[in-house]
Amino acid sequence: MSTPTKILILGAGGFIGANLTSRLLREGRHEVTALDIENDKLAGDLGDSRLTFLQRDISVRDESLEALVQDHDLVIDLVAMANPSLYISRPLDVFHLNFTENLRIVDYCVRHRKRIIQFSTCEVYGRTIAGVLGKPPEELPFPFEEDSSPLIMGPVKNHRWIYACAKQLLERVLHAHGLENGLNYTIIRPFNFIGPRIDYLPSEKAGNPRVFSHFMNALLYGTPMKLVDGGRNYRAYTHIDDAVEGIVRIIDNPGNTCDREIFNLGTPENETTIRGLAERMISLFDEHFRIPGDPVPEIIEVSSEEFYGSGYEDCDRRIPDVSKARKLLGWTSTHDLDSVLYHTMEYFVERHRSQAG
Ligand code: NAD
Ligand code: UGA
Repeated sequence: MSTPTKILILGAGGFIGANLTSRLLREGRHEVTALDIENDKLAGDLGDSRLTFLQRDISVRDESLEALVQDHDLVIDLVAMANPSLYISRPLDVFHLNFTENLRIVDYCVRHRKRIIQFSTCEVYGRTIAGVLGKPPEELPFPFEEDSSPLIMGPVKNHRWIYACAKQLLERVLHAHGLENGLNYTIIRPFNFIGPRIDYLPSEKAGNPRVFSHFMNALLYGTPMKLVDGGRNYRAYTHIDDAVEGIVRIIDNPGNTCDREIFNLGTPENETTIRGLAERMISLFDEHFRIPGDPVPEIIEVSSEEFYGSGYEDCDRRIPDVSKARKLLGWTSTHDLDSVLYHTMEYFVERHRSQAG
C-alpha cells in the first residue's frame, strides 16, 4: 500500500475538506497542510500541531502554490464554487475557479509528478435518459456508472450546466494527462454528501446555500420551506462520515487500484424527492428536537425562475452506481437517510441553541 505522508488539501476549509482534515488528524498517519480562504469550519483543529493551515486564495498568481505542490506527496483539490445559486448568478466566476484555477493545480501536479485526487461532481452525468425523453424519472431508473454512462448536459442558455461542464472538462484534461504524461490522478464524483459543517444557515449569513440549509433554517427560524418546481426531483444523500471513509480509502490507494480511476461515492438506498426530504426533516425535527416556542414552517411551492433566476435547469434524478467503490475499495455507506438527516440536524440545532444562550 502506498501511504502518502505529506498531504496538501486545497479547499480544506469547506464542508468536505474540514471533515476530511479532522479525520486525517484524528488518525495521525499523515502530515496535513490545509489551504483555504476561510477557516471557521476548521476551528476545532487549528491548534493541532500536525496541521499547517494556510489562509490563501489559489487564484493569487505567485510561485508559492507551485512550491507547495512540489513539497507534498499528494494533492487533494476540493476548491470550487459548489452551490447552484452561484451557477446562475456568477457563471463566469464558476467557470474560472472550477476550471481555469483548478487546471493550474493539475499542471503543477503534472510538472512535479505528484498524485492528485480531484473532486468532481455527480452533476457531470447531467440529465437522465428519462428526462431527455420527456418522461418522469420513475419510468426509467438509470443508475449512473463511472465508465459507461453518457454525460448529458442541457442547452447552453441554461447556464446552470456551466458548473458541470467545467468539472467535466477538468476530468477530461486529467484523463488526457494520464494518457500522455503519466499523471497519477483519481477523480471523485460525490453524490449529495450532507452532515455537520455543511454550508451555513441563510438567516445567519447572506446567500443561497444548498437545500438542507434552507430547510433547516425553516425549522429553526420559521422561514418557509420552498419546494422549487414542486420538489419533484430526486437526490440520494450520503452521510459525510461515510463519504470521508471512502475518501480515506482512496487516499490509501490499496494496491494502486485508484490510479487513473473515477469513483462515484453515493448511497442509492437514501434516495428521496425534495418534497420527501422536507417532510422527513419536519417529522424528525418534531420527534427529536422540537421545543415549545419553535416555529412551525410552512411548505410552499416556488418556480425555479423565482428561486434562482433564469438559466436554471434541474437534474431530475441521480442514482449512483457504487459497485466500483464496493469492489475496489470495499466501501459502502452505513448511514440510512434518517441517520444522515438526524446527525446534520443535531449539529445545527446545538449550534443554534448554544448561540441563543
Ligand atoms: P464548500 O463550498 O464547502 O468547499 C469549497 C471550499 O473552497 C470552501 O471552503 C471555499 O472557501 C474554498 N475556496 C473557494 N474559492 C477558493 C479560492 N480561490 N482559494 C482557496 N479556497 C477557495 O464545498 P464542499 O461541499 O465541501 O465541496 C468540495 C468539493 O466537492 C467541490 O469541488 C465540489 O464541487 C465537490 N462536490 C461536493 C459535493 C457535496 O456533496 N458536498 C457534491 C459534488 C461535488
Ligand atoms: C448540488 C451542487 O451542484 C453541488 O454541491 C454538488 O455538485 C452536487 O449537487 C451534490 O451535492 O452532489 P443540487 O443537489 O441541485 O446540486 O443542490 P441543492 O441546492 O441541494 O438542490 C437540491 C434540490 O433541491 C434541487 O432540486 C433544488 O431545486 C431544490 N431546492 C433547493 C428546493 O426545492 N428548495 C430550496 O430551498 C433549495
